Order: sequence, then C-alpha cells, then structure tokens
Amino acid sequence: MEATQVADGLFCLSANLGTGLLFEGMWPLPRGCSMNSYVVKGREVAIVDGVCDWDGVPETLYAQMAQIGVDVHSIRYVVINHTEPDHTGWLKSFLQITRDFEVVITQKGLELARAFYDLEVNYRIVRSGDTIDLGNGKMLRFEETPNVHWPDTMVTLETGTGTLLSCDIFGAFGALEQSPFDDRLDEAELKCFEAEALRYFANIVCRFSPSVARAVEKVKGLPVRIVAPGHGPIWRRDPGRIIDLYQRLASFGGGPAEPVVTVVWGTMYGNTERALAPVLEGIAAEGVETAVHQVPETQVSNILASAWRSTGIVLAMPTYEFRMFPPMAAALEELGRKVVKGKVAFRLGSFGWSGGAQRELDEIVERHKLGWNFLEPVEFKGAALPEQLELLYERGRELARRVKSAALRQQ
Ligand SMILES: Cc1cc2nc3c(=O)[nH]c(=O)nc-3n(C[C@H](O)[C@H](O)[C@H](O)COP(=O)(O)O)c2cc1C
Ligand SMILES: [Fe+2]
Ligand SMILES: [Fe+2]
Repeated sequence: MEATQVADGLFCLSANLGTGLLFEGMWPLPRGCSMNSYVVKGREVAIVDGVCDWDGVPETLYAQMAQIGVDVHSIRYVVINHTEPDHTGWLKSFLQITRDFEVVITQKGLELARAFYDLEVNYRIVRSGDTIDLGNGKMLRFEETPNVHWPDTMVTLETGTGTLLSCDIFGAFGALEQSPFDDRLDEAELKCFEAEALRYFANIVCRFSPSVARAVEKVKGLPVRIVAPGHGPIWRRDPGRIIDLYQRLASFGGGPAEPVVTVVWGTMYGNTERALAPVLEGIAAEGVETAVHQVPETQVSNILASAWRSTGIVLAMPTYEFRMFPPMAAALEELGRKVVKGKVAFRLGSFGWSGGAQRELDEIVERHKLGWNFLEPVEFKGAALPEQLELLYERGRELARRVKSAALRQQ
C-alpha cells in the first residue's frame, strides 16, 4: 500500500495482515486485515495510532512516512488511542530511532503502555475534551470511549477536517487494496466490508457492547465528516453508514436482533441431520431467513457473527459420552464467553440410551447467564419417528413466529 491523503494535511498509512494469519492469535482472516495509522501535519506533526511489530510492518510505516515527506525524527506527538499491540507494537522499533517526542494517552492507557513498553519518554495525559493545536489549522481533540474492549480506549477528532481517528471502533476485518476509501468501493465490496465489520464486532468487541453503544452515542455528538478507523475502509462519502452499523450491532447485545435464525448443527451418523430438515422447512414456511452452520466444519468466528445478528437460534446435536456432541459444546462455550444473550432458542437431537446433551446445554446456558428463551426440546432415541418429524416442523414454525415478533425493526 501507498500512503494516501485523507483530507488536507491528514494521511493514512496502512499495512495489510495476510490471509494466513489469525487475528488475536485465533480469528481467521480469509480477506486479511488492514492496520491503519494516521499522520496529521500542521506546523507540528502527530502520528495517531501505529501498527503491529510483525516482520516488516514498522518498516512499511516508515517507507510510507517518507512518501508523504515526514521524517520520523520530526514527529512531535504519538497519540495512542488504544494500547493493544496491534496498534502500538511498532513503538519498540520507533523508540530505538528516537525518544524526542511526546506520547499522548489517557491515564488508563499509560498504565497499560508502561506494562508493554519502555516508555521513558515525555507524555501528556489527556481527558475528554482536551485538545492539542498542531498549528496551520490542525487541531486534535480527544474523547475517552472506555472499554471498547480494553479499558483505555479513546478516539481522536481532527477538528479542522472533521476526521475521526477512531481506532478499533468502526473497524472491520478485510485488507485494503489500492485505495482505503468507501467511495472507491462498489456496493458489493462495501457489503463485503460490512460483513467483515460484523465479524470483527462479534469476535473482538461484542462482549463490551454496552460500552460500544456509549462510544457511538458520544461520536454522534461530535462534528464528524470522515470516519477513519484503525482497521478497514475510511468512510468519507457516507460516514453515517459505518456509525449506524455499529450502533445497530451494539443494540443487539440484549438478544433481539434481525429476523434471522442461526442454525448450528452437528451429527455423527445423520439421525440429527435428518430431523433438522423439517425444522428448517417450518422456519422457511414462516418466511424467516436461516443461516445454517455445521460444526465442527464452520469456524466459531462465523458462528459468533451469525448468532450476534440473529434473534433465533437452533441447536441440533446428538449425545456423545453422556454429554453433547463435543464440537457443539466448543461453539456454545464461545457464544457463552461472548455473552450472546437473550435469543429465542430451540434444541433437538438424537441419543442412544440415556442422553445427556440437554443437561450439558442447560448447564452452559445457565453458567454464562445467557437468558435464552427455549421452546420445549425434541429428543429422540436413534432415528426420529414420523410423528416426531411432524412435531419438529411445528417447532420450526413456532420458533420463526416468535422470532418475527421479537426481532428489532430495521431502522
Ligand atoms: C462415541 C459415541 C458416544 C455416544 N455416547 C452416548 C451417550 O453417552 N449417551 C447416549 O444416550 N447415547 C450416546 N451415543 C449414541 C448417539 O447419541 C446416537 O447414536 C445418536 O443417534 C447419534 O446421533 P447422530 O446420528 O445425529 O450422530 C453415543 C454414540 C457414539 C458414536
Ligand atoms: Fe483492540
Ligand atoms: Fe485493533
């Protein structure tokens, strides 16, 4: 990637993480992921957020600085919106080049940054509403948005151009190709990035959705003309599109979401799969969309994204060694850790002699306080009988009706 001008005196420097890497060591990146850093040039120069310290990444940043005529030694301020190493890892390299700069950071951020880096440099603690005048009409204003997944998060607004440097919030997985701007992407590409924003949200920040909702509210009160996040496209034609998407996703934290049913299923010998078919027919008969994921084939990253935006969830799995089919337990455990709450739910499955899957399901839902509203489960010995298949069709319809009445209306 080349450095790009976002607005007058404001530049995006960006490096892409490759598709073979796992974000946070666990989330797949089938479309890669961009790490965006921003340079603001007034009379003084500031860099807002950086990149990770993986092979060649800080060097890419320095090469892009050279392209825009910024000598690394001339950087006066290093603004750290968020101390997570995907944005700060480069500091290890930078601190070897120069220490003649000021770190601009929140109090919570400083405590964290000191734990990760040898931060014996000047620093300036900022709070909401504080500003730094860079000269030549460039002014940085800081707003704390704590707990958008780490305690220290804040956003930086360049007031002259109305550019919000938002770090993780409004971020999306997906590499940037030639240009980072929304107005250079066609509708299909934008939809792709929106899907990757959903997956990013559900994998990285959904556990903290009340804090995300508060951060979005705060941003909505700021004079923002461009949203420039730490990951994914820069929204300058339609900044409201990503702001509204994040607001909507944060509102799904309590359970009701889109009128969609996520179906997670696994089987050893096909009995559970055959019994799932009438459930899917029943849901379809009510005109409700399903998103169907087999385990262990589907990565939990995608199941999380699907479940987060769904109002309903169907779990279809047999009993295995007195408990549930293990890949289902793994997926449910992850939904529990991310507190995917308040879904309208239904479970079915086959067993051989005494069952046990249901007991483990109840235990997971209870332990994570998920508050799922379950229809009565349907369990069957071996293959489901014809009357059970009819019952399963009715359960599908009933679930779909409940989903339609509980789902949030699209704004
Ligand atoms: C490895 C293994 C372990 C099982 N453990 C149990 C069990 O603890 N309790 C039980 O009731 N059935 C158990 N079963 C029986 C299955 O639940 C039963 O075969 C069921 O029909 C499988 O559903 P499926 O065809 O959807 O895979 C086990 C089966 C297998 C292969
Ligand atoms: Fe982060
Ligand atoms: Fe990040």
